[in-house]
Amino acid sequence: MYNFNYYTPTKVVFGKGTQAQVGALVKTQNCRKVLIHYGSGSVKRTGLLDQVKASLDQEQISYVELGGAVPNPRLSLVYKGIELAKKEGVDFILAVGGGSAIDSAKAIGYGVANEGDVWEFYDRKRQAEGCLPIGVVLTLAATGSEMSNSSVITNEDGWIKRGYSSDYGRPRFAIMNPELTMTLPDYQTACGCTDILMHTMERYFTSGGNMEITDSIAEGLMRTVIVNAKILKEDPKNYDARAEVMWAGSLSHNGLTGCGTDGGDFASHALEHEIGGLYDVAHGAGLAAIWGSWARYVYMDCLPRFRKFAVNVMGISEEGSDEEVALKGIEAMEAFYREIHMPTSLKELGIEPTEDELRLLAHKCSIACKGIKGSARILHEEDMYQIYRCSL
Ligand code: NZQ
Ligand code: ZN
Repeated sequence: MYNFNYYTPTKVVFGKGTQAQVGALVKTQNCRKVLIHYGSGSVKRTGLLDQVKASLDQEQISYVELGGAVPNPRLSLVYKGIELAKKEGVDFILAVGGGSAIDSAKAIGYGVANEGDVWEFYDRKRQAEGCLPIGVVLTLAATGSEMSNSSVITNEDGWIKRGYSSDYGRPRFAIMNPELTMTLPDYQTACGCTDILMHTMERYFTSGGNMEITDSIAEGLMRTVIVNAKILKEDPKNYDARAEVMWAGSLSHNGLTGCGTDGGDFASHALEHEIGGLYDVAHGAGLAAIWGSWARYVYMDCLPRFRKFAVNVMGISEEGSDEEVALKGIEAMEAFYREIHMPTSLKELGIEPTEDELRLLAHKCSIACKGIKGSARILHEEDMYQIYRCSL
């Protein structure tokens, strides 16, 4: 078991109708002017944006707005947001949407609070020394960005998708009304469930330091997401299932399921970020497409964990060798992905990279990871290439 810090300063306001509290929550932040930041229009279609504005108006809080954050949010919009926020004297950012709007808001917050080019944080050239305070009204359970310290931005110059993590970016509050996720297309709901699972799986498959309590929380979380993802496939308006998934999304990526370990593997995420950057696919679907190949490539180096996962999460019988049980667990996970209509290969994801593109993906991934990535097994550029190739 490793030493750890657990820091989750985000106030969570959870449940039906909670978006009505947004004005009062922003007011507690003592800010002068708010930037409301959102995506490509779902918040307008659902009426949520109007509700948020009405709540701010009620508290006499002034605001400006900037929409347009797309999945795999772009650096160009971040620059635009920084310029707008500086010009308008914004001192609080309210993200209304999914992970893309939240991540874009965090990047704008770093850009306003620090001199110089914000991309340098994502490019690992320097560390932020602050961030404008961020609040969130969440509309998609997936990334956990509403409580996490991470933000992932895509630079159109080279289509480079990079994450940056800093505790300055952790939101001050997150309003989570599961009802708001009922307007999601089924595909996005499934992508979200996959991402939530993966944030805990990344932390679970480690070779360094484990804790029984962390494992129990992680296994319970994964079982809960699997059960409720299946319910949502049949019954997308099921409030309780939406709520289970939404809360799991936050707990899966706020650090809880990694306490006491070496920080996790996160190779699948690194591999997916390159796919998302080059082909602009949905993050959760990209993870599902790559995971099986990653798992088969590394499982012998982390056999006890794969066996435990198979038995405790996927319900595989303990009969058979460790290797057999572990492989059955991997197969069961892939069967689950198929059941919720997630891809289990790049072809099913809708992309067919050429040999050169596979090499490029592996090269970019290795640069992003500074050469190596993983904990279940340490991956080098050639390993990354092999995993991409196996996932075709
Ligand atoms: O843009 P709008 O019009 O809002 O539509 C979005 C978008 O098309 C739509 N949507 C969201 N809520 C909706 C809705 N449609 C109807 N009803 C609603 N209630 O869903 C689509 C996807 O939204 P997006 O925000 O892109 O999805 P997600 O939350 O999955 O975020 C994905 C991004 O987050 C990054 C991913 O790489 C990707 O760029 N990640 C961020 C992390 C973090 N900050 O901690 C960790 C993750 O591992 C991940 O990398
Ligand atoms: Zn993710």
